[in-house]
Amino acid sequence: MLANARLYCYIYGIQEKTILTMTDQTAKRDSFGSSFGVLVALAGSAVGLGNLWRFPYLLGQNGGAAFILIYLGFVLLVGLPVMLAEFIIGRRSQASARAAFRKLAPGSRWGITGVLGVICCVLILSFYSVVGGWGAEYLYKAVCFDFTTGDSNTFSNLFSGFSTSVWRPLICHGIFLALTAGIVIAGVKNGIEKFSKVMMPLLFLIVIGIAVRSMTLEGSGPGISYLFKPDWSKVTSQTFLAALGQAFFSLSLGACMVITYASYVKKDANIISLGAQTAAADTVFALIAGCAIMPAVFAFGIAPGEGPGLVFITLPQIFSQMPLGGVVAIFFFLALLLAALTSSISILEVIVAFCIEEFKMKRKAAVAVVFILIWILGVLCSLSMGPLADFKIFGKTIFDLFDFLSANFLMLIGGLLVVIFVGWRLGRKEVYDELTNGGGLKLSPWLLKTIIFLIRFVAPLALIAIAVFQIHE
Ligand code: PFF
Repeated sequence: MLANARLYCYIYGIQEKTILTMTDQTAKRDSFGSSFGVLVALAGSAVGLGNLWRFPYLLGQNGGAAFILIYLGFVLLVGLPVMLAEFIIGRRSQASARAAFRKLAPGSRWGITGVLGVICCVLILSFYSVVGGWGAEYLYKAVCFDFTTGDSNTFSNLFSGFSTSVWRPLICHGIFLALTAGIVIAGVKNGIEKFSKVMMPLLFLIVIGIAVRSMTLEGSGPGISYLFKPDWSKVTSQTFLAALGQAFFSLSLGACMVITYASYVKKDANIISLGAQTAAADTVFALIAGCAIMPAVFAFGIAPGEGPGLVFITLPQIFSQMPLGGVVAIFFFLALLLAALTSSISILEVIVAFCIEEFKMKRKAAVAVVFILIWILGVLCSLSMGPLADFKIFGKTIFDLFDFLSANFLMLIGGLLVVIFVGWRLGRKEVYDELTNGGGLKLSPWLLKTIIFLIRFVAPLALIAIAVFQIHE
């Protein structure tokens, strides 16, 4: 327990004594030290591979600007209400995922939402740690100054050679997962907290710098138009599903993450502003990542629909053409790894906390069991890039299936259940109480009505409409 509390301190840079007991079910429940602490916690979970790796390649596969506009619409109309609904459940109940529903709706079956969240986290972590492993490998390559020369073929071959091979990606996946598990078990080391606090803003600065370089490359014009001029002819119902799934994945919604963190938020924090700030930071970061990748993709003649390898092919090429690119590459992949770790730790924590609570396991044993499970599933994901590429379920490789099932299915179902629960099951008074801190916050009635309207009608209807479209496809 102590290790776990320390872990949070390390990751999120909050005063250790304020949360030492936050996962200790037997002790009095404590809370995050400050609103800033919880904001950094949520941003750490939200900003990760979803922004730097998944968003750019989905953008490339789904027609650019039109995808961005649909994505932004979903963040505002569906993502934000779901996030606030999760905040309401978490803070109201002061309990973790499954227990939160049991506490707010005793004797009902709503606890199943928590179980779905855990299953979703298992699927996500399985492929997330494979991509995290790619990040580790690329950091190693950057340190060896492997990105100082080469054209798009060189980097494309480098990536496909690596990702389709058997052992190296498996080792990297194992290392990434071990790092994640190690931090969850062992907790903080002095000084690392400071390092993390410096690295996240640095990641922002580096990505902004790369975006500027990318947008000023010769031949970047078509890439910039691709980002800012929507071509609606490319939009299909798949585009909507992909944009919605990405909004959920990037904001860490529908998988019980926000519920868990919100349960540590103090009663006097303004959850509306916390939710809005988290969503804004995550979205701005994704957009900057898009500006960093797309213009370079066009400038170097790479196909925007390249898929999951996109970032690993384009960025090394930008680095190879930049002054001091070799050094920037090291910083970038280090920061990417750190951003991935702060997210993967939060995903692992949801599963481990569930095992401890539901199966009364010890923390170390829970981490060990989950580690083995995720490593095996991750092996399947990794091999599906190479030797198992032809093994398909519903026409998808295992890697794609896990990604699709989590982001485009389970997270959306989780989100739907959450907004229905808050909008229709939980009493109106409870909801108002949480949003206004029991009337202590003077918020405009118009804002409150809009939020409730979004939670009760807009978000559920949008989610149901997307589901119906899919079934009819
Ligand atoms: N939001 C993270 C990212 O963009 O990389 C991924 C993620 C974290 C998904 C936590 C789900 C979750 F519960």
